[in-house]
Amino acid sequence: FQPKGLKGRRVVITAGPTSEPIDPVRVLTNRSSGKMGYALAQAAHEAGAQVVLVSGPTALPCPYGVLRIPVESAAQMHAAVMAETPAADVFIAVAAVADWHVVNASSSKIKKTPEGTPPALQFATNPDILAEVARLPDGPYCVGFAAETENLLGHAEDKRQRKGVPLLVGNLAQRAMNADDTELILFDDQGHRALPAMPKLQAARKLILEISGRLGR
Ligand code: C5P
Repeated sequence: FQPKGLKGRRVVITAGPTSEPIDPVRVLTNRSSGKMGYALAQAAHEAGAQVVLVSGPTALPCPYGVLRIPVESAAQMHAAVMAETPAADVFIAVAAVADWHVVNASSSKIKKTPEGTPPALQFATNPDILAEVARLPDGPYCVGFAAETENLLGHAEDKRQRKGVPLLVGNLAQRAMNADDTELILFDDQGHRALPAMPKLQAARKLILEISGRLGR
């Protein structure tokens, strides 16, 4: 049972990894199954919201009632999110966005040299989608995620402030990655609160309930 706490609200969610081309057959990507973002999309739909899921490449089916916009690169994810968020009430950034893209990506397959010399790839930093949406005047209520491998408490609160978001959800990368269960910690300006370990869909429903409670405040 999920109360319809998001009835009439528009929710935009990013999920999955991004995939940055190196050449037509090679990419730079992050480890992300997309499970948490997809669970949140389902939970937001159950709560009565109109949900847009901007998703990088994943193997998951689109949750019932959710509009999915498939993207590959961070640039594509950024464009889709910037088009969708001005009309949104809530933006939840769950995607594991690649931090860099390859500037000198090749339009044909890079061939191995007889000497075995690796290609000289040049990188440029991708836009921080969450931070940019958080800066929009009259923008949506923004929620970020942080998967850390150590010092979760320190890094997550630091990230919340750096990104300028009211709510940031932390989890331990090694425990949550590709798993069906997760243990979330919510960070806001009052401090942090840990939720017990539970299946991602159940955690998603709790988080959606939490967010809908904060919207009116
Ligand atoms: O900086 P970091 O990637 O650890 O921040 C995590 C949060 O920021 C996540 O919510 C992620 O979806 C979001 N993010 C983003 N655009 C980026 C990098 C991260 O929206 N380029």
